[in-house]
Amino acid sequence: MKAIIAPSLLSGDFAILAEECNRMLDLGADYLHMDVMDGHFVDNLTLGAPIIKSLRKHTKGFLDCHLMVSEPEKWVDDFVEAGADSYCFHFEATKDPESIIRKLNKTKTGAAISIKPKTNVEVLKPILDNKELKLNHILIMTVEPGFGGQKFMQDMMPKVKYLRENYPELNIQVDGGLDEGNVKVAAESGANIIVAGSSIFKSDDPKRTISLMRQAVNN
Ligand code: DX5
Ligand code: ZN
Repeated sequence: MKAIIAPSLLSGDFAILAEECNRMLDLGADYLHMDVMDGHFVDNLTLGAPIIKSLRKHTKGFLDCHLMVSEPEKWVDDFVEAGADSYCFHFEATKDPESIIRKLNKTKTGAAISIKPKTNVEVLKPILDNKELKLNHILIMTVEPGFGGQKFMQDMMPKVKYLRENYPELNIQVDGGLDEGNVKVAAESGANIIVAGSSIFKSDDPKRTISLMRQAVNN
């Protein structure tokens, strides 16, 4: 699977978000991972569709929006209208994940689903086995969602392996605590979309960090 490196802008400077996005693209990023938090689904508050809409005018990058919000069905239209490239919601946050995917599949915005560390990966099987539903990726959280800078949970790797074994063509994203060291175990387990906030933004050489992450997936 193609390596996709997705810096999380949560570790960037929100006052100069567009510059941070374009700097990441210049350094080799494939996706721009935007963490949307509502202070309810997670205990933190970040940004919403208006910022994505403004950002859209200032970057050509792929806006990979990770919605850590309750009732994500409320915000689908706004994010589609804002010009997000992908809308990833949490399985735990909604009663009807399939209808959100169906709605997104009628638009140009990609659909994706994430599960928190305590959620069993097999809950995704009916969705993944339903050929009518198109997914850009599945996101396996490798920290409890809400904050950057937490420790990578290696015990989430069996979920990634399960998905790679059963769905060889699926884009599998991992998010939380990824760095130049543990990206190897994530890639070996089958992940091909790597989200990284702190390890890229705090790197002395972020271009090198992005390139090492890409090599780990390609090896
Ligand atoms: C956490 C967010 C992550 C976060 C990752 O809830 O979903 O995208 O920014 O940051 P690091 O790489 O620092 O763990
Ligand atoms: Zn995220």
